Amino acid sequence: MIASSRILRKMVTAATVVTALVLVSNLISIRAQAQSGSVVKQAYGTTADGVAVDEYTLTNAAGAEVKIITYGGIVTSLKVPDRHGQLANVVLGFKTLADYETKNPYFGGIIGRYGNRIANGKFSIDGTEYTLAANNAPNSLHGGTKGFDKRVWTGKEVQDGGNVGVELTYLSPDGEEGYPGNLSVKVVYTLTAANELRIDYSATTDKTTVVNLTNHSYFNLAGNGAGAIYDHLLWVDADKYTPVDATLIPTGELASVEGTPFDFRAAKTIGSGVRSSSEQMVLGRGYDHNFVLNRPADNSLALAARLYEANSGRTMEVWTMEPGVQIYTANFLDGTLVGSSGGMYRQGDAICLETQHFPDSPNQADFPSTLLNPGETYQTTTIYKFTTD
Ligand code: GLA
Repeated sequence: MIASSRILRKMVTAATVVTALVLVSNLISIRAQAQSGSVVKQAYGTTADGVAVDEYTLTNAAGAEVKIITYGGIVTSLKVPDRHGQLANVVLGFKTLADYETKNPYFGGIIGRYGNRIANGKFSIDGTEYTLAANNAPNSLHGGTKGFDKRVWTGKEVQDGGNVGVELTYLSPDGEEGYPGNLSVKVVYTLTAANELRIDYSATTDKTTVVNLTNHSYFNLAGNGAGAIYDHLLWVDADKYTPVDATLIPTGELASVEGTPFDFRAAKTIGSGVRSSSEQMVLGRGYDHNFVLNRPADNSLALAARLYEANSGRTMEVWTMEPGVQIYTANFLDGTLVGSSGGMYRQGDAICLETQHFPDSPNQADFPSTLLNPGETYQTTTIYKFTTD
């Protein structure tokens, strides 16, 4: 009798321990899930040519969320907290795939094979001349008529601890848009646990070619559709910029920013210089210029720019391995596009910080080279890091 009640007591204790262990392990797994974030893939739509497009939603433990579609590798939405923890989408976009296919001024897309302009759509490698589409007459812009922002990429979910991402791959065939060489491209978007959108670009080729990849997100830290970004404070670590001609091709000069609207070495509002009478600002219709970053000689990641919006308290830092950043104040938006905010977009409603090699480098021997040879790997990283004050 005494013996059996002792056994019973032991059994009850063992059961309690097991239950407690199960509870603890459940709690640990719930916490792990909360700490690790998630990647959700869903169908987004079908292109006019009948190709299926997926959307990847990356959410981190802090609740920040990025949506990326396989069409163009476009960042369609990027939600980050303000100083009170309220999320807002800080990039411009559209509501439908058809809008992205038919009228996108590069909102959020992966730009390639060559970001920005190549003069007269021509360049030579080892004496062979290549001709590109003059889709921004007389120049070629952002990879031509159907650049990487208009191609359907192959997506694959990536998860690494608290960091969540999507890996996008695309094979650009030899001769596509006039560029030589089969170019195998990989772009990995990662939303880190620290509210960073990290973009790792890599590429290899089987013939010498030129490569200059970037992302064309239009940022507004007050929120998509909140109006102009003229009150945003901008700091850029650049002593020099590349002045342009009337067709926005660099003249080749690396000009000092000193005493010009291009001097952001002390943070100032974008509005303070955007309507300046300086010839360069008139040519650009605002900021549409490449800044020459003061960066370490090696290709480490360095802080290039910082954007701050006082009402929300949001700051975005731009870290990059690239030598330049194209700062574009959405000068060509004219109120004719209705976006994902439901309202129309007007000039100055966003700012792009396109990390890159300088425009027209294939025709400018003194600019850092954009050549990629067989056997080499093009590799570059840019991080957009969001914090609040
Ligand atoms: C870049 C160019 C601009 C414009 C935009 C897209 O920033 O420099 O001139 O083409 O892309 O509209």
